[in-house]
Amino acid sequence: MEKKISPSLMCADFLNLGEELKKLEKGGIEYLHVDIMDGEFVQNYTLGTDFVKKLHAATDIPLDIHMMVVKPELKLDWFEIREGDYVSVHYEAATHLQALLAKIHAKGGKTMLAINPGTPISVMEEVLPDLDAVLVMTVNPGFAGQKLVPQTLDKIRRLRKWLDESGYGHIEIEVDGNVNYPNARLMSEAGANIFVAGTSSLYAKGTDLDEEIVKFRDTINLK
Ligand code: DX5
Ligand code: ZN
Repeated sequence: MEKKISPSLMCADFLNLGEELKKLEKGGIEYLHVDIMDGEFVQNYTLGTDFVKKLHAATDIPLDIHMMVVKPELKLDWFEIREGDYVSVHYEAATHLQALLAKIHAKGGKTMLAINPGTPISVMEEVLPDLDAVLVMTVNPGFAGQKLVPQTLDKIRRLRKWLDESGYGHIEIEVDGNVNYPNARLMSEAGANIFVAGTSSLYAKGTDLDEEIVKFRDTINLK
């Protein structure tokens, strides 16, 4: 499966975002990860509906909208979704999960089911036909700069195997949280193919975005 990079824009330099977007486009970045937090599902606030609109106007790179909010069913309509954008919703937050996934598809989006480190992969069994991707959280969501929850590496491996063996080999696996270079390599080996790049890699202090993109791509392609 093609390995893709999804830089976490909550870690970007907002005062210099236009320039950074140009660098991401030049680097062939596949997705832009947009963290939506509501202060309730997670204890933080980040990006929102207007930012999504502005990104759509500024770039053709598809978005990867990560909704860390309670009752996502009631909030999906607030967002402008462009054909080809990924929308991830948390298993732990949704009540009418299947209906929500169907609605994302009806709006032209691609579906991604996010699961926290403590949530088993088995919970997604009945919605596999509705999924384009699974987001395996490799930290507990809410903040950048956390440490990997180590057992999530084996979780990625088991998920990839289960999907491949049950006729869902097309479902992509994204990883989010402490995706530094050594972890990215292990996650890639385990079967992840979309990598959220935050303060652990592309946006580490004092780094050059252009150089980091090349280094990151080499790492996930196991070069
Ligand atoms: C939350 C975010 C964070 C973060 C990832 O969903 O996506 O996990 O920005 O970057 P790190 O963990 O490297 O700071
Ligand atoms: Zn995220």
